[in-house]
Amino acid sequence: MMKFTAIANANIALVKYWGNRNIDLTLPLNSSISVTLDGLNAVTTVEFDEKYKNDILILNGTEVTDQKLERVSKTLDNVRNLANITTRAKVSSNNNFPTAAGLASSAAGGAAIALAASKAAGLNFSERELSVIARKFSGSASRSVIGGFVEWNKGEEDDGSDCFAKQLAPIEHWSEFRIIATIISKEEKKVSSRTGMSRSVRTSPFYNSWLDNIQQDLDKIKKGVLEKDLALVGQTAEQNAVKMHSLAWTAKPSINYWAPGSLVVIKLVNQLRDEGIECYYTMDAGPQVKIICLEKDVEDITKVLKQSSTIKEFYTCKPGGPVKLSEKHLF
Ligand code: PMV
Repeated sequence: MMKFTAIANANIALVKYWGNRNIDLTLPLNSSISVTLDGLNAVTTVEFDEKYKNDILILNGTEVTDQKLERVSKTLDNVRNLANITTRAKVSSNNNFPTAAGLASSAAGGAAIALAASKAAGLNFSERELSVIARKFSGSASRSVIGGFVEWNKGEEDDGSDCFAKQLAPIEHWSEFRIIATIISKEEKKVSSRTGMSRSVRTSPFYNSWLDNIQQDLDKIKKGVLEKDLALVGQTAEQNAVKMHSLAWTAKPSINYWAPGSLVVIKLVNQLRDEGIECYYTMDAGPQVKIICLEKDVEDITKVLKQSSTIKEFYTCKPGGPVKLSEKHLF
């Protein structure tokens, strides 16, 4: 059997996915919109071979046997079923950014394994089909299959056949758009996004109002992206992130993904904005703050970030491309 390697970028949601109607199939309760990030990526090599007695997972050079392997095996099973094979596989995956600290590593990893595993099993899937496979690995991974600005439609079907991501606008449409991902803490998060969102759905008294308002956020982000209106995109994304974190905060037991430094960076963003530099923030299920801005302001913003002892490092990302194959195998 053949060995295939895929490289996929992370993505940042401007309207967050937070809650499932079917956890097993990863069918969300709301649609979401993201931007794929150039340069924050996962590289994944997959080889199906009779010599492997069990699935093997190597993550950033170390073999892992915990739930991460289970999750990878579930995706491999999905691909094996589609290809009608039972062969076990070796999977090796490397991230070039901190794992499980709110930098959507599962998104990049999920998109990369969807392409690498399906090619290694002899299947040639469309973006839509890859998005469905990636979705079952991790919801946000459905969006990392696609480049540029991406919408993941929640779909209506019980089997999830209409639940996949598609492009809203290509990279070239708004190539000046930037996300600066600041790293505040490299500690692994204690509550996974999956646990956080299902607890929010079950116990937050505000979950229904999240759903009641989500269409407005989706419409505003769509309009903002299509018209390249940073104020509309930034204000809406910021509000949407705060609402998502409020759901986690008001879940029982309460979940808080922030570190003290998260608030420090948020205040910096507010201060920069007061000074006339247009920038906004968003956060996922971790302490890192991502700054939304335009290329022309990156220098002024990063000058301030470099002076902050809270920020350990940061990555400035342009909109990135879709998952693709690579010739450089990891083993
Ligand atoms: O795809 P998951 O299970 O890692 O969940 C992603 C959740 C958020 O990052 C907080 C929001 C999003 O839409 O990416």
